[in-house]
Amino acid sequence: MLSREEYIRKSFNNHLFWLRIMKEHAIFIQSAIPPSQRQLAQEAERFKLQFEHLLASAIIQSSGWVSPEVLLANELFTRYTDEAERITQQYTGIQINRNLTNLEADIEPWTAYSNATGRKEQEVSALNRNVLSQLEAFSHFKNSLWNSQVSCRIMTMLYTAVLQHVLHEAEEYIKTVTYLQNRQDPGGDTLENRNFWNNQMSEHAKAVRGLLDPSEAEMFVMADRYGKMFDSLIQDPARDPLEPAIELSEFKETVTRGRIECKIQGIILPLFIDHLLREANHYIRLLQS
Ligand SMILES: [Fe+2]
Ligand SMILES: [Fe+2]
Repeated sequence: MLSREEYIRKSFNNHLFWLRIMKEHAIFIQSAIPPSQRQLAQEAERFKLQFEHLLASAIIQSSGWVSPEVLLANELFTRYTDEAERITQQYTGIQINRNLTNLEADIEPWTAYSNATGRKEQEVSALNRNVLSQLEAFSHFKNSLWNSQVSCRIMTMLYTAVLQHVLHEAEEYIKTVTYLQNRQDPGGDTLENRNFWNNQMSEHAKAVRGLLDPSEAEMFVMADRYGKMFDSLIQDPARDPLEPAIELSEFKETVTRGRIECKIQGIILPLFIDHLLREANHYIRLLQS
């Protein structure tokens, strides 16, 4: 059973990470929809705006409530995020609220003096309920997109496996908030979290492998190696995934920097690879908690 203080802190820790992840999924989906499916792109645009709105609320409400280790983990934004957003907006024409990234830099960490009032608890509970209802809608949208594509009724420029991957992340976020609403700890380094994130890490490596330019042979081999590394961890979750996760994070950082500096080619939006980098950093933090 979480104390009131833990409930508030863990809710914000999770929202600051996951709300950005959700709004970026909306951006990636929108960027990958062909002109024939304009309505779907508009729907993705609405989800982006709604998640940006929720993220703005979470940022404002969370100051003084975020665990210091979360602020230090490079999972909320990285040193590349602002620039990755600028370039991605330029490439896609999709508006990205970069002000949120600047605001995130000023979030104050939780201290023993942060006062867990009943009113703050109610505020957090309302935010959690809002997030949950938005997540239900978004996972419904992702599921129907995946369904349409897997049955070949539409084709987007996202792999079918990537559509399913982002659906799984929405479901994981729903699970996390549901735990919190039941005053249960969503956990750090648990078998359940390892199973989920080892799978995500493997899929990231394979997605990057497939999005690199055919001329990037060396990077392709590295991405493939990480995919296999995490496949073997999926088979054996008792093995410590911390070192492989750190290595994969470093690889993603190299690709992020390479895309921003135009030293790596491929059909990878800079914000897409920065997003994968943050998810690896989030996993590393869970493994270290
Ligand atoms: Fe994601
Ligand atoms: Fe992911």
